[in-house]
Amino acid sequence: MLEMQSINKIFTTDLIETHALRDFNLEVEEGEFITVTGPSGSGKTTFLNIAGLLEPFSSGRYSLDGQDVSQMSDNDRSRLRNQKIGFIFQSFNLIPDLDLFDNVDVPLRYRGFPAKERRRRIMQALERVGLAARANHLPAQLSGGQQQRVAIARALAGEPKFLLADEPTGNLDSLMARQVMELLEGINREGTTIVMVTHDPELALRSQRNIQIIDGQVSDFSSAPAAVEPLV
Ligand SMILES: Nc1ncnc2c1ncn2[C@@H]1O[C@H](COP(=O)(O)OP(=O)(O)OP(=O)(O)O)[C@@H](O)[C@H]1O
Ligand SMILES: [Mg+2]
Repeated sequence: MLEMQSINKIFTTDLIETHALRDFNLEVEEGEFITVTGPSGSGKTTFLNIAGLLEPFSSGRYSLDGQDVSQMSDNDRSRLRNQKIGFIFQSFNLIPDLDLFDNVDVPLRYRGFPAKERRRRIMQALERVGLAARANHLPAQLSGGQQQRVAIARALAGEPKFLLADEPTGNLDSLMARQVMELLEGINREGTTIVMVTHDPELALRSQRNIQIIDGQVSDFSSAPAAVEPLV
């Protein structure tokens, strides 16, 4: 479970102070698939980066999977992130001169798994997203949707409990967006908790729960869990 209580995040630059999250409260249960929508600049990415332990927060309490993150050292926080969290970005963030196999391998090397275990995880993850036969291709040889599936494989290879995605379909046409959504839904059914930021109302409607962030807070217009029947 992911639990945030009264989280505040203030960015300070030379010129201005931005209160990106204000007394932000949210609970995400294990196994949920929630989408996060809201206007540009409302704090969605800030929320996701804090949830994914990529960024510190100014005050409040955050506990991830029963562990209080607020008091943790940087090292412990990185370890927790590597163990529990997979991240997917709008721009895929693949390394252009590495083939798919090596792209998926990057975070696994970082974690120091032995070669055999890495190979098992890489091939299983590429298999899961339907790209095992392309393991030796370069990202540029793939479509946008396929590249995003590689990025999903890279996140899955870490066997994360939580998958956090920041507009993963933002650079894709609607057909590819739907395919990526279907893939994520399948991964969620297998037990991974997913939090996805999206601008796409159709995808937001499909998810079990949609929260809207407005002005750094969860809006009252967010839908209750499972209020909306997913489209087939
Ligand atoms: N590193 C930073 N330094 C200063 N201000 C920042 C920083 N990152 C974000 N902000 C500010 O915090 C607010 C929230 O930004 P955030 O990126 O979370 O919005 P968002 O909801 O993801 O928007 P979008 O839909 O455009 O991606 C904005 O006002 C933004 O300018
Ligand atoms: Mg954003």
